[in-house]
Amino acid sequence: MLIDLRSDTVTLPTQAMREAMYHAELGDDVFGEDPTVNRLQALAAEKLGKEAALFVPTGTMGNAIAQLTHAGRGQAIIVGDESHIYHYEAGGASTLGGCPMRVVPTLPDGMLDLEKVAGQIANESNAHVAATALVCIENTHNRFGGTVLGVDQIEAVAQLAHAHSVAVHMDGARIFHAAVALGVPVSELARPVDSLMFCLSKGLSAPAGSLLVGEQAFIHRAHRIRKLLGGGMRQAGVLAAAGILALEQMVERLAQDHAHCQLLAHGLAGYPQIVIQPERVVTNILVFSLQNAQQQPCSITETNHFLARARDYGVLMLHMGGGIIRAVTHYGIEKEHILDALAGIQRSLIDTNL
Ligand SMILES: Cc1ncc(COP(=O)(O)O)c(C=O)c1O
Repeated sequence: MLIDLRSDTVTLPTQAMREAMYHAELGDDVFGEDPTVNRLQALAAEKLGKEAALFVPTGTMGNAIAQLTHAGRGQAIIVGDESHIYHYEAGGASTLGGCPMRVVPTLPDGMLDLEKVAGQIANESNAHVAATALVCIENTHNRFGGTVLGVDQIEAVAQLAHAHSVAVHMDGARIFHAAVALGVPVSELARPVDSLMFCLSKGLSAPAGSLLVGEQAFIHRAHRIRKLLGGGMRQAGVLAAAGILALEQMVERLAQDHAHCQLLAHGLAGYPQIVIQPERVVTNILVFSLQNAQQQPCSITETNHFLARARDYGVLMLHMGGGIIRAVTHYGIEKEHILDALAGIQRSLIDTNL
């Protein structure tokens, strides 16, 4: 069996989800008439403590809709230099909506450098620069290894942005992981921000779908942008049925994924060829790199060779570029898989002559 640690997007729906999908009550969601979608949206809004929610096909589309709803053509969006929005969403609102991105440094815990954010905020009075409409933050932070922003940090960003009439959007693809790791209600993490996108299709194991939450008027405008992007999905209740179970049944178990990730991190830290900070692993994502016997960083070729050997031993992980390897724990990965993965990784290190 392959132990697939590349991403939590590889999770498959549970039996209960498949049955709920089969029996889902359906209607045309573009007319707002799919009762299962409406139930999911109401549940999401309630859990996140926001007025309304919109079901969207993907996290990428949810983030794009949020940006295009908050920012008009020629208005700037502040993003972190290591954010998913900046790296992996094909230019999003810049490409689609003519919104320039202002890129600020991300600190090692996934927080934006607030001094730099303040320095990038501009208003209409200066004809030389695009006025800022939005700041985006990410929680948990993917490229930094699933780090978590706490309520105080989110409030600090929101206070700064709101003082300048700038909105805040949270890419909360894995916001439930953050809430479980911090032991706070997810609504506390959502409270300071104007909008938040979270994914059902990652650690929560639904086959597809994300939700965008915010105030009623914001979601009303977002609905139009979803249509513009081709995200109106008719009998989407088939997917929403699985999403309801994702929210009702799959949140508390995320603590197991976090424990498995820590087990993996501490195991990896025992191998001299692996550079990792296990104390920074708090959710279901970890990142590490490789070093040789002289404690020099391994080349990209060596890193790829190691990953190919690990695959031969049944362990799949992802090269994020620059020698950074990511492993993600999720539903379907149990303690014995982690122990097998550690053994496979150790053999791969030996085979790669590291
Ligand atoms: C932090 C973050 N935001 C957004 C997304 C985009 O989600 P999707 O793959 O559903 O478009 C991802 C996907 O991995 C992610 O990790």
